[in-house]
Amino acid sequence: MPYTQGLLDLRTLQRFQIDELFHLAQEKKNFFLNKKFESSPEELQPRPNFRSAALIFFEPSTRTRFSFELACQRSSVSPLIFSSLEGTSLQKGETLEDTIHNIAAMGPSLLIVRAGSEFDLSGLSQMTGIPVINAGWGKEGHPTQALLDAFCWSEFLSSRGESISGKKLLVVGDIRHSRVAASHRELAQVLDYEIAWCGPTEFLPPEDLIQERVFKKLQEGLEWCDAVMALRVQIERHQSKFSLEDYRRNFQLNFKSLSSLSGHAFIFHPGPINYGIEMDSELHGDPRYLVLQQVSHGVWLRQALIEKVLFSRETL
Ligand code: CP
Repeated sequence: MPYTQGLLDLRTLQRFQIDELFHLAQEKKNFFLNKKFESSPEELQPRPNFRSAALIFFEPSTRTRFSFELACQRSSVSPLIFSSLEGTSLQKGETLEDTIHNIAAMGPSLLIVRAGSEFDLSGLSQMTGIPVINAGWGKEGHPTQALLDAFCWSEFLSSRGESISGKKLLVVGDIRHSRVAASHRELAQVLDYEIAWCGPTEFLPPEDLIQERVFKKLQEGLEWCDAVMALRVQIERHQSKFSLEDYRRNFQLNFKSLSSLSGHAFIFHPGPINYGIEMDSELHGDPRYLVLQQVSHGVWLRQALIEKVLFSRETL
C-alpha cells in the first residue's frame, strides 16, 4: 500500500497516487483559505486515536521544519521537535543512529527526518516499524520539496487550463550537490515534465551521469523553458573552485537575464536564497515569481502527505 512506510523517494509512486495527494492538498488549501484563520481544536477533524510525529532535524531548516510542524498541528497530530545539537545528548557524544532509535522507542506515530548522506534512512521504517518521511536527506533527495514545487506549478497551470505534463523545467545552479534536483529528476519521470540543467561545468553532475539536456548558456535555457528554478549556490562546498563574480554574470536570475523568459513562465527557488548570487531580490516584484507561493503550498502538501501516511485507512 502506498505511503504505509512513509516517503523516502519518488521512484515508487505512480501518477494516480500523486494526483490523489495533490487533490487532498488542494482540499487542505481550500479549507484554509475559506476559513482564513487557524482552526480551533474543536473544529479539527476528530481522530479516534491520538497521533504524534517526531520531527528529527539533524541539519538546519526553516521552511521544511516549520511547514511540517504547522501541517501536523492542522491535522491534529502532535509534533515533537528535535532540531538542534544544543540541549540534546548529541552534545554528550550520542550518535545520530542511537538518537533516532531512542526517539523511535518512545513510540511516535511518524518519524520526519532531515539528515546528511552519512545517515542511512532507507531501512529505518522497517527497523522501527514506524513510517518515515524524508525531510531532506544528504544529496539523495528531498521528495516533499519536489512534490510541493509540482503542486504549486500544477495549480498555476490549471488556472489557465494547462497541465504540467509536457512542460519544461530549467534548473539553474548547483545541481551536483542538490537533493532538490535529485527529487525533481524522479518526479519528472512520473508527472511527465521535461528537465534541463544549466550551470558551470563544476556544478553539473558528472558527465556520464547526465541523461537530461544541458544548457551552457542561461539565455538559451530560459528561451526553451516554461519554468525556471534557481538553486542555492552551496558556497561552502566550492570555496576554491569557482568565481562568484563569474557565476553572477553568467547564471544569476535578474531582470536583465529574465528578459529571455516567456511572460507565461514561472520562477521558482526552493530556498534558502543567496540574494545577489543566484537570484536578485528585485525579482520579488515580478508576477512570474512564485517563491513564497511554493512555501505556502508546502504546508498543504505536507498536511496531505501526513494524512495519507497516518490516516489513509480512516479517511480515504
Ligand atoms: N527548501 C528547504 O528545504 O528549505 P529549508 O532548508 O529551510 O527547510
